[in-house]
Amino acid sequence: MGTNTTYKARSFDLSDLTGISNETLAMHFKLYEGYVTNTNTLNSQIAELIQGGELDATKTAAYSELKRRFGFEYNGMVLHEYYFENMKVGGAGDPEPDSTFLKAAEKSFGSYAVWKTDFVGVGKMRGVGWAICNQNPANNRLSNHWVSEHQVGNVAGFNPVLVLDVWEHAYLLDYKPADRPKYIEAFFSNIDWNSVEERLRKSSGPHSIAAQQLVPR
Ligand SMILES: [Fe+2]
Repeated sequence: MGTNTTYKARSFDLSDLTGISNETLAMHFKLYEGYVTNTNTLNSQIAELIQGGELDATKTAAYSELKRRFGFEYNGMVLHEYYFENMKVGGAGDPEPDSTFLKAAEKSFGSYAVWKTDFVGVGKMRGVGWAICNQNPANNRLSNHWVSEHQVGNVAGFNPVLVLDVWEHAYLLDYKPADRPKYIEAFFSNIDWNSVEERLRKSSGPHSIAAQQLVPR
């Protein structure tokens, strides 16, 4: 019994990154696989409750709790995929000068340096979470956002183009908690800017009226 969708964990070839150990990655992949498993489990538990096309009133509490947990597990799965996918062995600290990303950062923040200050600033925020650079599909502007628990703080309709995991498990084997900035530096040296570029190009689709009202400066 299950819903129509079963998710399969993806694999990422990230051995020998700079400043993020293989041990950290192996542990992190396992954690990610846990999110995939839990997403599938919740999906089939929800499917069981709604089978027959009716939700038994005695089960709405259980159903609601499963739906809430689904937001956490599903986003945990997806955000890790973005994160692993935007790194590669032999990555580069900064995007190419003629890249769409760099131009979008300049347009949105005045300069790449200001964009980076903001993104790194989000990454250093106290607490566990994610630093996410999103593209607004209505005007292609970039903005950086803090997501605490995986399902909290995502901007509806926005397109994540660069995703950084700053939960402590992402770096604790390699750095002390107080040295999170060193981990962020290491992350930057491994960025696969090609994957960032690809995400940008995909995001000129239809957009909502609310998003259109965010007029470019
Ligand atoms: Fe993580």
